Amino acid sequence: MSGTAGGREPILEVRDLVKHFPLTRGVLVRRRIGAVQAVDGVSFDLWPGETLGIVGESGCGKSTVAKLMLSLERPTAGSIRYKGEDISRLSGRALKAVRRNIQMVFQDPYTSLNPRMTVGDIIGEPFDIHPDVAPKGDRRRRVQELLDVVGLNPEYVNRYPHQFSGGQRQRIGIARGLALNPEIIVADEPVSALDVSVQAQVINLMERLQSEFGLAYMFIAHDLSIVRHISDRVAVMYLGRIVETGTEEEIYEHATHPYTQALLSAVPVPDPELSRRRERIILAGDVPSPANPPSGCRFRTRCWKAQALCAEVDPPLAVPAEYAGASGPARHDSACHFAEDKGRAVRG
Ligand SMILES: Nc1ncnc2c1ncn2[C@@H]1O[C@H](COP(=O)(O)OP(=O)(O)O)[C@@H](O)[C@H]1O
Ligand code: SF4
Ligand SMILES: [Mg+2]
Repeated sequence: MSGTAGGREPILEVRDLVKHFPLTRGVLVRRRIGAVQAVDGVSFDLWPGETLGIVGESGCGKSTVAKLMLSLERPTAGSIRYKGEDISRLSGRALKAVRRNIQMVFQDPYTSLNPRMTVGDIIGEPFDIHPDVAPKGDRRRRVQELLDVVGLNPEYVNRYPHQFSGGQRQRIGIARGLALNPEIIVADEPVSALDVSVQAQVINLMERLQSEFGLAYMFIAHDLSIVRHISDRVAVMYLGRIVETGTEEEIYEHATHPYTQALLSAVPVPDPELSRRRERIILAGDVPSPANPPSGCRFRTRCWKAQALCAEVDPPLAVPAEYAGASGPARHDSACHFAEDKGRAVRG
């Protein structure tokens, strides 16, 4: 985990990214009646060699952010600069060249691998689109090398996905992600479908590959505990927005946003004494519909600290005024009018 030390310029600069999906009604004449605000003004940087964890409940826009990074969706507004160039509106050959450097690892190793293809064909598939990376005669050797890199027997090259366990299938997915020597890997809940005992193995593998190949990761999860050890920085999402972002220490030990504090309070702690003493925050209700988000602060319908101001004024993602003059880990971006560092009190 190299933090921001790996390079002087961010490898990705995302600014004011918006993705609205139109809501329509009618069969013959489709009328637009609104929009699902899946992503609504997201900004962040990704630095070479670092891991940015992206966390939030289901439906808050994480996968849509991932798809936008990979140009699988086009943004409604905003920009995604890769090494200074806005890639969000590229097409054709220019897009293909950029895509090679940004690869995806999917959530579900059961459905993301074609059951009728051999492991060799699955891992080597990206070479069909970029034959320059591995000339035809060299592909088998290259695929076997990739199997070895992810800790699988190179002799497995002719086997089919159903012959592997969940953890092994995710290794195959990672090998495919590495095939084109990317600089960035966007991993959308890569271990969420795996048994807890296997999750750590896959995360350890990803960490090893990161230092071996100098990869930058966007690592998406719905659970804060999963991303803790792999992330240099964490961004917490709620209803299409980033509500708090900071270093691993700033978020896990000094969260100031009530939503992050609630997510942290749900993370199991192994120490029973600590577990008994700590404050548990139960989030009431479900995430509101992104087609009709609450006015002002989007979290206010579930926030135990909400006041009249929260319904009127949308709090910006910035260092809160009370911490602006301070130094130390409470000084980080948090979109809350009443941001408060409860420090370890929250956690036990
Ligand atoms: N193609 C789509 N059309 C309409 N709505 C979508 C589409 N993709 C995602 N959404 C909606 O956008 C919101 C965010 O979804 P998603 O990015 O998948 O969230 P997450 O990955 O955090 O669970 C959800 O309300 C989802 O239903
Ligand atoms: S701005 Fe208000 S409603 Fe939003 S998180 Fe802060 S206290 Fe809660
Ligand atoms: Mg998702």
